[in-house]
Amino acid sequence: MTVRYSKESIIADLESPIADIRKCYATQRSAIMPALYLAQEKYGFIDETAYQAISQILDVPEIWVFELASFYTLYNHKKIGKYHIQLCTNVPCMLCGAYDLMDHLQTRLGIQKGETSQDGLFTLTTVECIGSCDVAPAMMVNQTYHPNLSKERVDELLDQLTKAGAESSTIEEPSAIEESSVRKSSSIGIKP
Ligand code: FES
Repeated sequence: MTVRYSKESIIADLESPIADIRKCYATQRSAIMPALYLAQEKYGFIDETAYQAISQILDVPEIWVFELASFYTLYNHKKIGKYHIQLCTNVPCMLCGAYDLMDHLQTRLGIQKGETSQDGLFTLTTVECIGSCDVAPAMMVNQTYHPNLSKERVDELLDQLTKAGAESSTIEEPSAIEESSVRKSSSIGIKP
């Protein structure tokens, strides 16, 4: 299915849900981040077209939208793979082997940091701390935390995701991943 993507179509798609989000906040400006996230959830990424649409819907300057969208790493500015791997390489994770894991991920996936695998399944990026320093090294895949990583654990996870990605057209992660080793994100959605 082709998803429409123009300023007018984004406004048509998101005006109503963003109006609902707006009611949860004291000011228009406070609703920008959840509005951006909503657009990203629908289209997979956000760019100037989305900034313009959100600026118009919320009646705020476009620069306010751009400032927030360009600051936070949770926003994607180009199409990414079905599974977005965000490996933390900040100091605690680095000391626990994050760079070895990055080398391993790059070799396993055949891509470099910032790239998407040819099959469109995986995008690999790094982030500065995901709040899991006590269980370092850690990474996120989409909105799921994966703590206490090792090369073996990464291999196990990649195998599961590859299998699930080949079998499913949805963006869900496989249920086979052990809940006990997964910390679900409660904040990244920034939903009101
Ligand atoms: S430094 Fe890696 S989660 Fe905080």
